[in-house]
Amino acid sequence: MSNNPADLAPAPWWERGVLYQIYPRSFQDSDGDGVGDLAGIERRLDYFVDLGVDAIWLSPIFPSPMADFGYDVSDYVGVDPLFGSLEDFDRLLAATHRRGLKLLLDLVPNHSSDRHAWFIESRSSRDNPKRDWYIWRDPGPDGGPPNNWISDFGGSSWEWDETTGQYYLHAFLKEQPDLNWRNPEVRAAMLDVMRFWFDRGVDGFRIDVLWHMVKAEDLRDNPPNPDYRPGMGDMNRVLQLHSTDQPEVHEIAAEMRSLADQFGERLLVGEIYLPVERLVRYYGVDAPGVHLPFNFQLIDLQWNAAAIGEAIQRYEEALPAGGWPNWVLGNHDRPRIAAKVGEAQARVAAVLLLTLRGTPTIYYGDEIGLADVSIPANEVKDPRELREPGIGLGRDPVRTPMGWDGSPHAGFTSGKPWLPLHVDWPRRNVEAEIANPGSMLGLYRALLALRRSETALSEGGFELVNSQDDVLAYRRSQGDTCIFVALNLSGERRAITLPSGELLLSTIDHGESDGSLRPNEGIILRMAD
Ligand code: GLC
Ligand code: MG
Repeated sequence: MSNNPADLAPAPWWERGVLYQIYPRSFQDSDGDGVGDLAGIERRLDYFVDLGVDAIWLSPIFPSPMADFGYDVSDYVGVDPLFGSLEDFDRLLAATHRRGLKLLLDLVPNHSSDRHAWFIESRSSRDNPKRDWYIWRDPGPDGGPPNNWISDFGGSSWEWDETTGQYYLHAFLKEQPDLNWRNPEVRAAMLDVMRFWFDRGVDGFRIDVLWHMVKAEDLRDNPPNPDYRPGMGDMNRVLQLHSTDQPEVHEIAAEMRSLADQFGERLLVGEIYLPVERLVRYYGVDAPGVHLPFNFQLIDLQWNAAAIGEAIQRYEEALPAGGWPNWVLGNHDRPRIAAKVGEAQARVAAVLLLTLRGTPTIYYGDEIGLADVSIPANEVKDPRELREPGIGLGRDPVRTPMGWDGSPHAGFTSGKPWLPLHVDWPRRNVEAEIANPGSMLGLYRALLALRRSETALSEGGFELVNSQDDVLAYRRSQGDTCIFVALNLSGERRAITLPSGELLLSTIDHGESDGSLRPNEGIILRMAD
């Protein structure tokens, strides 16, 4: 036992807790316009309590022309009328807190909308005081763009501005000009934005594309990607060596962190797609960075016990001292887990997500087993799909409305949903699944309850036991309690020597377990002393 009082302090809420991502357009509509809104979310708050999560993160709700569905912000300190008003937000936040839940917003600091007042000024003339708030450059030697950088949505990252005769940089759409984070005025302005929401009581932020925020000072060309093949998406023609993940980004993360810390136990989660060794630097280099750099490995990895086992080990080993892990199965940008591995394995994946060491984030709809919804060509909304159609980059399929009940439009809206519902909504909805404990929702609720009652699962140590022959097995332990998790990642029976103990949960609710793992079975048991 240590005598250090810090060791006796309870873990912060976000280490013990579970996060839940809401895509506000698709969660619950309250006014019949077919688009979800804040009043709709407020109506559903008890759902989170019953489910057993601790915090909700809302994808952007700020005023926006919606070129990238809210990731193009035209005012960082307001609410888009589509979602409601600032008063609606305050009411939602108070109602969230009354239920003991936390609320995170989505900060989009890398770029604003081209309709933001800052950019309108910046583009008005070369000597405007806000000119240097964005990244402007003269044409390259050949009269074309200043360098070879490619937008994540395809095409050059540079847009020509006729009025002032220069190009501006945009890592995403041309409607999303990149802010110049080397300019101290930009930093100060964005910290003020964070202060505005912290003062209102927001419990933290998910920070959009954190690793993009600083670019190499000389904006030199990116190297070609030797592994590029057509069909991978235009952005992959080059490696984003100089356009992302620059050392100075860690100073910015540290400034944001020190601001957050002034407000008590607030949480910063960073969106970062990088290999693990570079990802973990976002915990902080010289000073603390974000609390949780999102760990997206389960999204990208093949569904294979050996690959997942190795990734878990490497991640655990790469974590800096005091760095708390986290895991994600899906988000509003990537294929859903049920589409990737099928429904039976999505149940196994749920056990994995909620029993690994670290804070899990659940993407709305995954808990009812929602899969990707195919969108007819004439209903495509996502600019990413519209810019590079037909190669599977579109994100509409993972952003479709939540299914609540068997009433018209699944109880999502009284109007026409902005994206089509999943075809099986009459049976795949919250009301129907609550009535059936064997459902995906029943499984999620059982897992979340177990995670809450067994601190070995939420806070305990992790030890990998097996990752061969399609079986991933590990122990989670704290004090005298040891929990054993065994997951069959195949659709066939797998032999395994199970320790003796009490079976706490199986993904298969029928038939007898015979000491081996049944097809697609995941089990949790408490080991006998
Ligand atoms: C992030 C968001 C994505 C958005 C992009 C540009 O990756 O998750 O939805 O399109 O940033 O803001
Ligand atoms: Mg609405």
